[in-house]
Amino acid sequence: MRILFTGGSGKAGRHVMPILRDAGHKVLNLDQTPIGLDGIPDLALDLTDAGQVFNAMQAYRDFDELAEGTGMPGYDAVVHFAAVPRILLTTDNETFRINTMATYNVIDAALRSGIRKVIFASSETTYGICFYDGEKKPAYIPIDEDHPTVPQDSYAMSKVVNEATARSFQERSGADIYGLRINNVIEPHEYEEMFPDFLTDPAKRRRNIFAYIDARDLGQMVLKCLETDGLGYEVFNVANADMSVAAKTGEIIEEFYQGVPQKREMGEDETFYAIDKARRLVGFEPEHSWRDVLGDPRA
Ligand SMILES: NC(=O)c1ccc[n+]([C@@H]2O[C@H](COP(=O)([O-])OP(=O)(O)OC[C@H]3O[C@@H](n4cnc5c(N)ncnc54)[C@H](O)[C@@H]3O)[C@@H](O)[C@H]2O)c1
Repeated sequence: MRILFTGGSGKAGRHVMPILRDAGHKVLNLDQTPIGLDGIPDLALDLTDAGQVFNAMQAYRDFDELAEGTGMPGYDAVVHFAAVPRILLTTDNETFRINTMATYNVIDAALRSGIRKVIFASSETTYGICFYDGEKKPAYIPIDEDHPTVPQDSYAMSKVVNEATARSFQERSGADIYGLRINNVIEPHEYEEMFPDFLTDPAKRRRNIFAYIDARDLGQMVLKCLETDGLGYEVFNVANADMSVAAKTGEIIEEFYQGVPQKREMGEDETFYAIDKARRLVGFEPEHSWRDVLGDPRA
C-alpha cells in the first residue's frame, strides 16, 4: 500500500513507519520536522493548515515517481499520529486547537481524496485517569472501550473530540476509520532506563492504569489495522499483554482499586487496559515485554 503517515518523526512514528516499510508498504512521512529514515521520504508541512494537508494528500512520494510520466499516483491509507502528545508542552488551548484541527483536516482531506482507510492515534487519557486533578479510579476493571471517556484536561479532551470527528466522517463516507487508544509508548531502550523504577514502585504507573505499549507492538497493531477492512468506525485499546509493574494483579487491586467493580477474572500479570477487542477484531497479539529485557523478578 501507499501510506501517508503523519507525525512519523515523533517517538512512536519513528518506530512504526519502518515496520510498515519493512512489511512492503510505501510510506511518506508528513511532519513539520523531517527525520530522514531510510526509504521513507519526508514532506514538511503544518497539518493545522487545511491547504497544505489537501496538497499533501496528492503529493508525489519521491523523485522516482516522475519517471513514468503518468502523473501523481494516489494513496491507499493514512496513519495519523501527529499531535501535541500531552498537556504542559504548550498552552492548553493550543494543544486543543492543534490536535483537533489537524485531525479534522487530515480525515476530511483523506476522504475527499478518495482514501478509504484512516487509522488515527487516540489515547489512554480519554478515560480521564491520566491527567486527573487528584486521584481518579476507573469505573470498573479491566478498562475496555465501553468505559466512560470524560477527561478533565485539554489534551485528552482533544482526543475525545477527535474520536467524535472521526465517527461523524465515517458516518458520511462509509470508509474504514479506526482510532487507537494508545497506552504509554515505550521504546526498546527505555526498558533499562525506566522500568527498574516502575517495578519497585507501582504507584508511578497508576496514572497509566499500570499498562504500557511497546513501540514495536504498536507497529504491529497499525499493520493489523491496515490489513483488516470493513469494520467501519472502531476504537481499540492498544497495550501490551502484561502490566508495567512486577506486582500481581491481586496486589494492585488491593492497593489501588479497592471497591472498583471487576468485570471478569484476570490473569496474575494481565494488563488492566483490556486488549480483548483488538485481539478479536484485528488479530493483535503483542510480542514484546519488559521481561524480555529485565527478566522476571519473581523467577
Ligand atoms: N507517547 C505516548 O506515550 C502516547 C500515548 C498515547 C497516545 N499517543 C499519541 O500518539 C501519537 C504519537 O505520539 P508521540 O509520542 O510519537 O508524539 P511526538 O510528539 O513524539 O510526535 C508527534 C509528531 O507530530 C508532529 N507534529 C505535531 N504537530 C504538527 C503539525 N501541526 N503539523 C505537522 N506535524 C506536527 C511533531 O513534529 C512530532 O514529530 C500522538 O497522537 C499522541 O497523542 C502517544
